[in-house]
Amino acid sequence: MARCFVTRSLPGGALGRLGAEHEVDLWPERLPPRPDELRERSGRVEGLLCLLTDRIDAELIAAWPRLRVISNLAVGCDNVDVAAVRARAIALGYTPDVLTETTADLAFALILAVARRLPEAMAAVPAGEWEPWDPGWLLGRDVYGTTVGIVGLGRIGSAVARRARGFEMEVLHTGGDGGVALDDLLARSDFVSLHTPLTPRTRNLIAAPQLRAMKRTAYLINTARGGVVDQAALERALREGWIAGAAVDVTDPEPLPPDHPLLGAPNLIVLPHIGSATHATRERMADLAVDNLLAGLAGRPMPREYRPP
Ligand code: GLV
Repeated sequence: MARCFVTRSLPGGALGRLGAEHEVDLWPERLPPRPDELRERSGRVEGLLCLLTDRIDAELIAAWPRLRVISNLAVGCDNVDVAAVRARAIALGYTPDVLTETTADLAFALILAVARRLPEAMAAVPAGEWEPWDPGWLLGRDVYGTTVGIVGLGRIGSAVARRARGFEMEVLHTGGDGGVALDDLLARSDFVSLHTPLTPRTRNLIAAPQLRAMKRTAYLINTARGGVVDQAALERALREGWIAGAAVDVTDPEPLPPDHPLLGAPNLIVLPHIGSATHATRERMADLAVDNLLAGLAGRPMPREYRPP
């Protein structure tokens, strides 16, 4: 029986399965543990089940001498210092696949919501701004038959592409067979949807030059990681009309403080990182994270072991 620290309560019955085999220390608070609180947990912990909000850095790993398995409840592992994990031969699990379709649904929801101005339209009703049907009111842009540029045609990018084909959209993508250069994609797309992991190479991948390369009528969609976009440049692009709008489920930092300047920019939708937030998907993620942890602690191959791109 190993001691496991779990940094947040999880939906479904997965933690019950972990508790049946191991001693579980479950973080009891609503907010995630601060780095110093995480470090204090150290001592006997052999297995860690953490979230993308937990920064698992070299200092923390050094402070946990018995740690041998980390199970990250996320597909992105940019919160983990992978080099430090590898240097200690700690097994690292993650939760890809089970959230692909759910996250792609949200990316598509953002495409539709920003193009058809759903937040403004919804706000107009309780505000008493709904006047008789007006041919010139709340005009947005078509999604059907336009061009989407998928930056990063991995699991989620491919799932967004499948949805786009159902809308008879032309699909451009970077990388892989038939991929186009980023500049070409930016210049031709009506919607640019980001699906890259956050790595040193992709940090600020979309900055001022890239936003200026987009059509003035185009929209930027980000369901990947906030750090892939230079947020100051995005704010300027929206204020100065370099692009028509943006819809993001991820920001840097998260949570974005309510007085953050980005939130004052026009034609912007910001969601609080809910890409995988459905009952079924969060239960599948919890199950996979626990399966990874159980396998790692038993010295078996994890169902989903993280290998850096
Ligand atoms: C969510 O952003 C995840 O990485 O699972």
